[in-house]
Amino acid sequence: MRGERAAAPRRRSVLGGLLGGLALGAAGCTQGREARPAGETSEQRELEVFSWWAGAGGEATALRVLIDRYARLHPGITFVNAAVAGGAGVQARAVLEQRLQTGRPPGSFQGHAGPELLDHVRADRLQRLDDLITGTGLADAMPEVLADRLRTDGHLHGVPVTLHRANLLWYSPRVFELAKVDGPPEDPESFVETLEKIAAAARLPLALGEAWTAKHLLETVLAAELGAAGYERLWGPEGDWRGPDVRRAIRTFRSLLRRTDPDAGTLTWQEAATLVTEGQAGCMVMGDWVYGLFAEQGRRPEEDYAWAVAPGTDGVYQWLSDVFTLPKGVPDAAAARAWLRVCAEPATQRRMAQVKGCLPPRTDAMDGIDGGYLGWARDAWEKDTPIGSLTHGGVASNAWAGEIDRALTLFLSVRDSTRFTEDLAAAADRHAGS
Ligand code: GAL
Repeated sequence: MRGERAAAPRRRSVLGGLLGGLALGAAGCTQGREARPAGETSEQRELEVFSWWAGAGGEATALRVLIDRYARLHPGITFVNAAVAGGAGVQARAVLEQRLQTGRPPGSFQGHAGPELLDHVRADRLQRLDDLITGTGLADAMPEVLADRLRTDGHLHGVPVTLHRANLLWYSPRVFELAKVDGPPEDPESFVETLEKIAAAARLPLALGEAWTAKHLLETVLAAELGAAGYERLWGPEGDWRGPDVRRAIRTFRSLLRRTDPDAGTLTWQEAATLVTEGQAGCMVMGDWVYGLFAEQGRRPEEDYAWAVAPGTDGVYQWLSDVFTLPKGVPDAAAARAWLRVCAEPATQRRMAQVKGCLPPRTDAMDGIDGGYLGWARDAWEKDTPIGSLTHGGVASNAWAGEIDRALTLFLSVRDSTRFTEDLAAAADRHAGS
């Protein structure tokens, strides 16, 4: 089957097309044919790239930077944009899983550096990329902490295109002024107090969206209450999930949730973040893709929004990285490798990162990034302690993260802290260090 597919122009299966079409329809996108094959080639070549960068807010525009560059370099290859909308890839990863399990890999797919990616390696789904990563200079240019999360048994399996930060507070200076809040809160306690003041000023204190955004908030609270070392320990065999620090973190998390909209789960991250710039909400804890969104919307820093580290996490850089991969059994591996080489280019990484709202993963592409959010992020990256992100694939296997999701869903509806702590601890007992 695979041989046939590689030899002939690729046909998308009815089911794959339907799922992709539905999701894209929801995002208001169309399946994109980005480049016409060169007229003189008798055999049509195409590359299908799977991601979740279909929605608004810097994401689709950032992907376009890569697509346009690819089209310029490889006009004879038709680009099929198989993006499935949905923040943090929650929907896309489910569709991808189905495709991989039924032997229909795209030419390349998006994933996160860390256990999320390494799960695919363990399942024998990915080709090694050592030669490509070395050949493009990426091996020497990547921060070691990132290379470490791309490596299994000494081999690299993903080309990183972003270096995002998760532990950020995006807030409305106008709402803070209205609520007589002097500045961004610096610890969990003053965070709760700040939210009380915003509530008293008749604004939504803390914007939140669908469930993964609550998990995102939780990971920053864990980092704040446990510190960088304590947080990192949680993901190994030494993690103390039943100890006082985790219990305190869950109490804080619960207090913060009280100051969110009970119907928040219906909002996308973009909709939730927009509540802040419109002055309807005081703040939101979210990654720096929010910066990409605000920049694309033409929002003005210091007026429509401002940022700070998530309360209690100063000096900590909770990072994550989006990577593209080379699945085993791809129909046209050469076309996919050409895509990955584009992803690895320093100038392309840099352009893409500016739109996406993150640092480029290549340190040699960071030169000259100065001022504004990105300059601030770059300075922090150079001095802060890096820790991984739970929500974005960096610390827990997919099975473990899935159990955390189920525990969190229950907690969001019944708010039983004791049960939540026990569910999290039981999940860690099953998965930590495995
Ligand atoms: C993260 C991803 C980011 C951004 C965000 C919101 O998981 O790594 O690049 O897209 O989700 O969708």
